[in-house]
Amino acid sequence: MHIREEAPADVDAIHALTQAAFAPMDFSDKTEGAALKALRARGELTISLVAEEAGALIGHVAFSPVAIDGVHDGWYGLGPISVRPGRQRNGVGKALIARGLGMLRDLGASGCALIGNPRIYSRAGFVSDGRLSYRNLPSEYVQRIVFRGPPPSGALRFASGLEDDALPTG
Ligand SMILES: CC(C)(COP(=O)(O)OP(=O)(O)OC[C@H]1O[C@@H](n2cnc3c(N)ncnc32)[C@H](O)[C@@H]1OP(=O)(O)O)[C@@H](O)C(=O)NCCC(=O)NCCS
Repeated sequence: MHIREEAPADVDAIHALTQAAFAPMDFSDKTEGAALKALRARGELTISLVAEEAGALIGHVAFSPVAIDGVHDGWYGLGPISVRPGRQRNGVGKALIARGLGMLRDLGASGCALIGNPRIYSRAGFVSDGRLSYRNLPSEYVQRIVFRGPPPSGALRFASGLEDDALPTG
C-alpha cells in the first residue's frame, strides 16, 4: 500500500470510493462524496490523501479548516475518511490518519478535530473531554487531538463545504 496526495486524475475514483464506503452506513446521509467535491471547489481541502494498492484506490482521507467559537486558530477537521469495503479493518484507515496528522503537524497546526466513533479514533490519539461541542451531538462523538497550545473549548464548525452539504464525517 502506498499513501500519497490526491492528483486531479483521482477525483472520480475518490468519489466512487467514498460513496461505496458510506453506502452501508446507517448514520450516513450519503452526501459525503458531494461534500468532498464542495470542499475541493471552495479551496477548503487542505490535505487529501489516497491509499493506493496495485494501481487502485483503497482509501481516502480529507482534512479541512475548522473554527472553534468562530475562530480558526490553526485547527483542522478530519473527514470524510473512507476505506474500500473488503479492505476495512486492515490498518488502511489508521495509516491514512497517521500520515495526515503528520502533515498537519508539519503545517504548524494547533490540532485536529472530528466527529466519529470513539472506538475507532481513540486508537489514533483522539479524545473527548466534553469541552468541544458540535450541534446537539453527544460529546463523546466530538473528539480532538492537540498538537500545541491548550485543549480547545467551544462550538466546533466545519468548513463550509461540509456544513452546507453534509453532517461532517470522520
Ligand atoms: C472507519 C474506517 C475509515 C476505518 O478504516 P479501517 O481501515 O477500516 O480501520 P483500521 O483497520 O485502520 O482500524 C483502526 C483502528 O480502529 C478500529 N476500528 C476500525 N473500525 C472499527 C469499527 N467499526 N468499530 C470499532 N473499532 C474499529 C480498529 O480495530 C483499529 O484499532 P487498532 O489500532 O487497535 O487495531 C473504515 O472502516 C470505513 O471506511 N468505514 C466506512 C465509512 C465510515 O464509516 N467512515 C467514517 C465515519 S465516522
